Amino acid sequence: MQREQWNSRTGFILAAVGSAIGLGNIWRFPYMAYENGGGAFFIPYLFAMLSAGIPFMIMEFSLGHKYRGAAPKVFAKLGQSIGLRLEWLGWFQVFIAAVIAVYYVAIIGWAMSYLVFSVTQSWGADTNEFFFKSYLQLGDNSPTKLGDFQFHIALPMTLAWAITSLAVYSGVKAGIERASKIMMPLLFIMVLLLIGRIIMLPGALEGLDYLFRPDFSKILDAKVWSAAYGQIFFTLSVGFAIMIAYSSYLPEKSDINNNAFMTVLINCGFSILGGIMIFAVLGYMAAEQSKPITEVVTSGVGLAFVTIPAAINLLPIPYILGPLFFLALVVAGLSSHISIIEAVVSAVIDKVNISRKKAALLVCGLGYVTSLAFSTNGGLLLLDLVDYFINNVALLTSCLIELLIMGWLFKLANVREYVNHCSEFNVGQWLVICLRFISPVMLAGILFKNLINTIQNGYGDYPVADQLFLGWGLIAVMLFCAIFIGLVSNLHLPEERKP
Ligand code: PHE
Ligand code: NA
Repeated sequence: MQREQWNSRTGFILAAVGSAIGLGNIWRFPYMAYENGGGAFFIPYLFAMLSAGIPFMIMEFSLGHKYRGAAPKVFAKLGQSIGLRLEWLGWFQVFIAAVIAVYYVAIIGWAMSYLVFSVTQSWGADTNEFFFKSYLQLGDNSPTKLGDFQFHIALPMTLAWAITSLAVYSGVKAGIERASKIMMPLLFIMVLLLIGRIIMLPGALEGLDYLFRPDFSKILDAKVWSAAYGQIFFTLSVGFAIMIAYSSYLPEKSDINNNAFMTVLINCGFSILGGIMIFAVLGYMAAEQSKPITEVVTSGVGLAFVTIPAAINLLPIPYILGPLFFLALVVAGLSSHISIIEAVVSAVIDKVNISRKKAALLVCGLGYVTSLAFSTNGGLLLLDLVDYFINNVALLTSCLIELLIMGWLFKLANVREYVNHCSEFNVGQWLVICLRFISPVMLAGILFKNLINTIQNGYGDYPVADQLFLGWGLIAVMLFCAIFIGLVSNLHLPEERKP
């Protein structure tokens, strides 16, 4: 059967950008930049983008384009050309995607609830109490003591799954591409509208000043560089099967270099918009409460569901700006969720040769049931723990293994030749140098530091048994299953494209 294809180049780029732009651009990047030298952070960040982000994106686009398969098929085929069995690496990445998919959707569900609350600001004055107690109903729980099922959280999650599964079920063109063409322009417009209004508020510019004021002393700090590299891999969704799956639907004639540059630049540009939006709000909030901005800066879940609602309480036209913010969060999240699910679905289609519709129903059905674990009293704790281990250990390990294989066991010069053949402008020898030396060294450093730190200190205050079971244990099981499936299988290997 003919592999599905994107309808247009814009469609592909919007889908790839839709995957890359996610919650991380809105609630992770601004804080990282602020914490790590403000304006001076842009130097390591740009360096990481050029030396790791763009090369990695070019490499993954070339893999999908050339071998026309999801990650397991791509690595199986690649392995075949160098006499190694590598399918397991693809499955490891697919499992990472699958795990992320089941908790990511919970956050989208919360954002949907808050979209509704924001119309009337029903979160009241104490937004902290409201989020943790009234909404999540978090009590004396732990990641393994989840408490009761929470119907009011499961409901929006169900809606999020419905949208994702509809997009993936409908196919590359009619589902994913069409959804991206609506969602991405909408997201940009919403964020620009928000910025346009918020920037005029008193204090907003001071907020931006905090974000962008360069602290050049930080540039010599290795931590800042490792933060920049860590953020680049996460923000671009590379290294866990997503971009490989998306690029496997590229038509024969596709400008790989150009597409990769566009995807990376649009994502990183959007991060700066995210930073402006968040810090303008925080600056205004600090001014209204006459607090220093350092007291209101937060990131992650606390930023989106505690600080921002409190800021919205203070905003003019809160019933418009509030829903705009949460709708932006929902759209950014959904377009990423669609891509993670597609990474899994496309791998299943390759492997068991069932139709897309069946594979989509199977994956979404299983994912849905699993994700209900997060609509419980302790769902947040489970999410937090699993997310830490997946991001800091599994994801970086997978990126590093992929880089080492590509850089040291495979001839990267072939990748360069391949992409240049497909593209209007050529990339130089720097591609090889970045992928072979710079990126793996940086990644290995970050991973090593994370491993030591996690082994010594664990994560948070969670019970050690929970960390062994849901952190290390989960990763071990994923690795074991990946190796098992990869070794017992014999994937039907496709014809590769000749340059
Ligand atoms: N790139 C996304 C972001 O910046 C992260 C992500 C994408 C996570 C897809 C999971 C799945 O938020
Ligand atoms: Na991103």
